[in-house]
Amino acid sequence: MKKIAVLTSGGDAPGMNVALRGVVRTAIYNNLTIVGVKRGYLGLIEKDFIRLNLSSVADIIHRGGTVLHTARCKEFLTNEGREKAVSNMREEEIDGLVVIGGDGTFRGAVELNKLGMPTIGIPGTIDNDISCTTNTIGFDTVVNTVVDAIDKIRDTATSHERIFVIEVMGRNSGFIALEAGLAGGAESILIPEISLDIDEVVKNIKRGVRRGKKHSIIVVAEGVGDSMKIAKEIQEKSGLETRVSILGYIQRGGTPTVYDRCIASRMGAKAVEILLKGEKNKMVGVECEKIKCFDMDYVLSQSKDINMEDYKLAHMLSI
Ligand code: F6P
Repeated sequence: MKKIAVLTSGGDAPGMNVALRGVVRTAIYNNLTIVGVKRGYLGLIEKDFIRLNLSSVADIIHRGGTVLHTARCKEFLTNEGREKAVSNMREEEIDGLVVIGGDGTFRGAVELNKLGMPTIGIPGTIDNDISCTTNTIGFDTVVNTVVDAIDKIRDTATSHERIFVIEVMGRNSGFIALEAGLAGGAESILIPEISLDIDEVVKNIKRGVRRGKKHSIIVVAEGVGDSMKIAKEIQEKSGLETRVSILGYIQRGGTPTVYDRCIASRMGAKAVEILLKGEKNKMVGVECEKIKCFDMDYVLSQSKDINMEDYKLAHMLSI
């Protein structure tokens, strides 16, 4: 193996740049030529390649987003698009590829492997919805961002004695809501994995009021439904003033935490090391503080369950 490529794809996540730095510098350390692909799979199809050197990844360890840019590419979902991507890589004499992204990115990687391009995945998504890894890159950072927001909103909630519905990201999963809700002391946590029961939420609020609580924080994952409607129903049923705060895209940006920087550096290095050993169709993940390597088809066949004990704990502690 002489030349490899790296790309970031799907929703950006804080720490993607750190993983990129890990890939680039490990590749160069091992005398490989390294090419960056701009805008994920779109860049593979459009042959938007740039040669990377040690300086290309200087001064990015603390930056959110991805300097390679990212995109969600429809053309890559077709056979023609994927064949074009592989033929572009062959023309460039690329022997292997590292992709940094989430579930959709990994499904694309599996297809590239089938077409003969050895590909390794690094899990980079704020959603943390990838199996075989305790954390995806970006999850720790987003949870810290959300908890910071909850703490600030709590000041207003207490001052005005209001209920606040705080919507966080997570279209199909409640990992962000659960972790941030637990750490932020939310009264209720609403996630797509558990069916919505507004009466239960209102019961919690009323119990809190009886013991003198001045506010309630309800953290809702976006996948649960329309936060405005949820808040309206809570207000109607509880008779208490309710406000909504949708945190939105501030959750995707920002400086990666120390934890995200460490796992991203380790995963970036490991991805290159296993490519060099001849591995393909694998994902690197972190389990029990160790970086491990998993078969990509297995990773994609497993769903990652939320921690029900944490869910119950958050509820118990918020009483
Ligand atoms: O996958 C990460 C994520 O931030 C989800 O939590 C969210 O639902 C989605 O991306 C938003 O995607 P887009 O950037 O396409 O609006």
